[in-house]
Amino acid sequence: MKLKIGLIYDRISWNEKQLVKAAAKKKIDLNLIDAKRLSLTATDCNSDLQEYDVLLQRSVSYFRGLYLSAILENKGLHVINSFETAQTCGNKLLTTLALTKANIPTPKTLVSFAEDSALESLNDVGYPAVIKPLVGSWGRLVSLINDEIVATSVIEHKEMLGPLHKIHYIQEKVPSKRDIRAFVIGDDVVAAMYRKANGGDWRTNIARGGTAKICEITPEIKELSLKAAKVVGGGILGVDLLEDKEGLVVNEINHTVEFKGLMETTFVEIPELILDYVIEHLKD
Ligand SMILES: Nc1ncnc2c1ncn2[C@@H]1O[C@H](COP(=O)(O)OP(=O)(O)O)[C@@H](O)[C@H]1O
Ligand SMILES: [Mg+2]
Repeated sequence: MKLKIGLIYDRISWNEKQLVKAAAKKKIDLNLIDAKRLSLTATDCNSDLQEYDVLLQRSVSYFRGLYLSAILENKGLHVINSFETAQTCGNKLLTTLALTKANIPTPKTLVSFAEDSALESLNDVGYPAVIKPLVGSWGRLVSLINDEIVATSVIEHKEMLGPLHKIHYIQEKVPSKRDIRAFVIGDDVVAAMYRKANGGDWRTNIARGGTAKICEITPEIKELSLKAAKVVGGGILGVDLLEDKEGLVVNEINHTVEFKGLMETTFVEIPELILDYVIEHLKD
């Protein structure tokens, strides 16, 4: 019987187009599903999207994708990445906790729930420090704080932004000149690249103009990335590593991974590997 894959999106980017192309090449039945057009019955476990053997969740909006996956999994549908994986990876604090529990090195992080204690946490971590929103991507609102004057103002602004921003996630700045993006699919690291910040920014995100260079997948990169992927539930993941004084640390794990920069740098056929994994995974 032919498998049917549903690709859930809220924005069709280059990445989704490549997945569609790869499916056509492999003669895989793949349908695009616009998350914004769905009306799902939360009180019925059997209706909606039952024709799909697997749903590839590619919604860019964290909350949209997350709650959609929760409903679909409740209907017994197979979603990749899973709700559990998305929940942990999409929230930097939950990721930190999962990594820490598994003894995986990650930058020292303090969390405060009010202005004064946030400033204390910053003093404790020491300047320069990094403040991040719990939920976010593309480096957005990830701030490098050089002194207490800037800290006070950033914390003040965060307090005005809404409930999640009042949970102040404060991190040591790792003295890393570049970071490493390792692309994990199931039990394999299929490609890796170094990313360097470009010009006036300190963040290495490709979306912010970061430049990429191919990175050899060393045993250390492989072992650490796979271990990190495993503790968040596994799947198709972008594991970001920073180079600290004593070795590599895991900065974050991305669950709706863009792969344009990685493909242009490494020439690895990521979309085909993703589809192979989805199909193999269903046979298990
Ligand atoms: N603790 C840190 N030390 C050094 N650089 C960091 C640290 N945290 C983040 N960065 C830099 O900022 C970028 C964006 O931060 P990240 O945590 O990956 O957030 P996002 O999910 O928005 O990409 C990283 O790719 C890295 O270049
Ligand atoms: Mg990142």
